[in-house]
Amino acid sequence: MTRITRAVIPAAGLGTRFLPMTRSMPKEMLPVGRKPVIQYVIEEAVDAGITECLIITGRGKRAVEDYFDRRDIGDNEENAHLDALIDQLDIYFVRQKSPRGLGDALRYAEPFTSGEPFVVLLGDTFTRPSCLPALIDGYRRHRVSTIAVQSVPQELLDRYGVVAGTPCGDGELRITNLVEKPNPRKAPSNLAVLGAYLLTPSIFPALARTRPGKNGEIQLTDALRAAAEAGRLVGCISTGRRYDIGEPLSWLLANIELGLADPHTHQAVRELLAELGIGEGDSWPQDLPVTVL
Ligand code: UTP
Repeated sequence: MTRITRAVIPAAGLGTRFLPMTRSMPKEMLPVGRKPVIQYVIEEAVDAGITECLIITGRGKRAVEDYFDRRDIGDNEENAHLDALIDQLDIYFVRQKSPRGLGDALRYAEPFTSGEPFVVLLGDTFTRPSCLPALIDGYRRHRVSTIAVQSVPQELLDRYGVVAGTPCGDGELRITNLVEKPNPRKAPSNLAVLGAYLLTPSIFPALARTRPGKNGEIQLTDALRAAAEAGRLVGCISTGRRYDIGEPLSWLLANIELGLADPHTHQAVRELLAELGIGEGDSWPQDLPVTVL
């Protein structure tokens, strides 16, 4: 059985949606509860069996590298937890020369992946439960690249890559086409690309052939289209909750929601919500859309 042990985490984006914060700090270091978003991403990877991770950084991202140095100091449970996490994998860094898009960032990962399939998780986004077990399982059965997709409300489709395809298994579809940020009325479906991928090495020649697309960036979606047209791309439908921390409202909502779920902070957040008149009987947060935007 093929073991998937390598993850690539692009974290070199400018973070313009989170200006002015990102003038001097990487968005991947934004705290959600008591840890930065990129730690959730690494934890998701380790839980799925990843033992080597390449983080793609760039200008202004030095704090991401420093965060993953072992720091055996003080008597702090969270700090000890991070050291234990760091001990479970090897982390490498490479700098994207300039932020020319997610597809361009991934091109820097080719030597690291050594001709083996690998997973890609975005440095500012995580999903609970993780999509990775489904992606890895899908790859083992279909032997092609697998990507996480999720149904999103129609009016939001122009924020995503959107797929077309035909069902090919329980919660899976054989993708036939992908469109980046379509006009919602012309979108091929309501299934959006979530930002978690398991890619085979054939992505690298496809990326090399990809010309700048939307916003002048090299789009991964455009490179994946070749695999889709060849019938070699499977979408795994996720029903997990996705936290896109690179967007201020989503970051705020994630902090409230996960603060409520964390046993350390649960009581205090509940008390605050009660004080604000949001009581036990209210439907929040169960009725939030699956994707926290
Ligand atoms: P985003 O589109 O969320 O990142 O890219 P961005 O460009 O920083 O966002 P805004 O629109 O300016 O706010 C998804 C992921 O790809 C990485 C980002 O760091 C993020 O994790 N990325 C994006 C790169 O590594 N390099 C790039 O050139 C672009």
